[in-house]
Amino acid sequence: MKKSVKVGRRQVLAGLSAVGLAAVPFVGRAQSPMVLKFSHVVAEKTPKGQAALKFRELVQARLGGKVDVQVFPNSTLFGDAKELEALLLGDVHFIAPSLSKFDRYTKKIQLFDLPFLFDDMAAVDRFQHSAAGQSLLDSIKARGLQGLAFWHNGLKQLSTNKDKLTRPEDVKGLKFRIQASDVLEAQFRAMGANPQKMAFAEVYQALQTGVVDGQENTWSNMYSQKFHEVQKTIAETNHGVIDYMVVTNLKWWGGLPPDVRKGLSEAMAEATEYGNKVAADFNARDKDLIAQAGKARIQSLTKDDIAAWRKVMEPVWKKFEGDIGRDLIDAALKSNA
Ligand code: LMR
Repeated sequence: MKKSVKVGRRQVLAGLSAVGLAAVPFVGRAQSPMVLKFSHVVAEKTPKGQAALKFRELVQARLGGKVDVQVFPNSTLFGDAKELEALLLGDVHFIAPSLSKFDRYTKKIQLFDLPFLFDDMAAVDRFQHSAAGQSLLDSIKARGLQGLAFWHNGLKQLSTNKDKLTRPEDVKGLKFRIQASDVLEAQFRAMGANPQKMAFAEVYQALQTGVVDGQENTWSNMYSQKFHEVQKTIAETNHGVIDYMVVTNLKWWGGLPPDVRKGLSEAMAEATEYGNKVAADFNARDKDLIAQAGKARIQSLTKDDIAAWRKVMEPVWKKFEGDIGRDLIDAALKSNA
């Protein structure tokens, strides 16, 4: 249904739809640029923070005057608890939650949380580019969401407020903050620890006040949130991955004028390439900065130590294999060189 709206001397058509945002492109063309909001929960000096800014810059170059992307970092617009809901309600246009945060929308993406699934980030990248990986971008369509790209962060490390952190027995009985993921919950239970789901924006304070003893994250997230200042030891476990899916509202995206959608898609592809190229450098740099800061100690692990962590986390695979699907797990394993 279309409705005629007076804007100054011009008459423009405003599309009416259940998603309020669907009206934006038509009004935007007639007067000021269409303002598109990109919300995320991390700092700007991180792989995701930089990729989002690059997207903004590339959209400006392609669609300047027509479209203006505004980026809101650090949960300033929406935090973990609200961002997916806000996207469905049309209050934000792009978000990029970690792959651990989709399990209410599809069980398939839980794949990425299986401990020690990928040998390294090159394997993660190969899988995301494969047909099986790409199919996951469409796996949340039934829920009104469209995946646009995978963005890298990196491999996870484990940190605690204790001096000793080399073997699974060192975390028995400790409380850990986890992302909202049932797989991660099972992983920490398998380790004999107590997991607590918590939004990213609350982690620093929870670590500082001892509400939790530890957490798992990438070097980049730990450094940019200063977790190393409130933790004693970070063990280099590389036991899982934190990557992202950039998502948009399927209905709104489908209703965009084709030239705008094309410009946004091209900018997204280029920003993805850029962000995924710099992610490893950011994590290497932030690991060095944590070491230089001299607050948390970085614990490197032997092959035997890693084997012990791997063994204790193994039961998690069996528990989620049915939900994720054996085919998808095998496709991911094939990406390991
Ligand atoms: C976390 O919640 O620990 C991270 O996934 C945050 C992020 O977006 O990297």
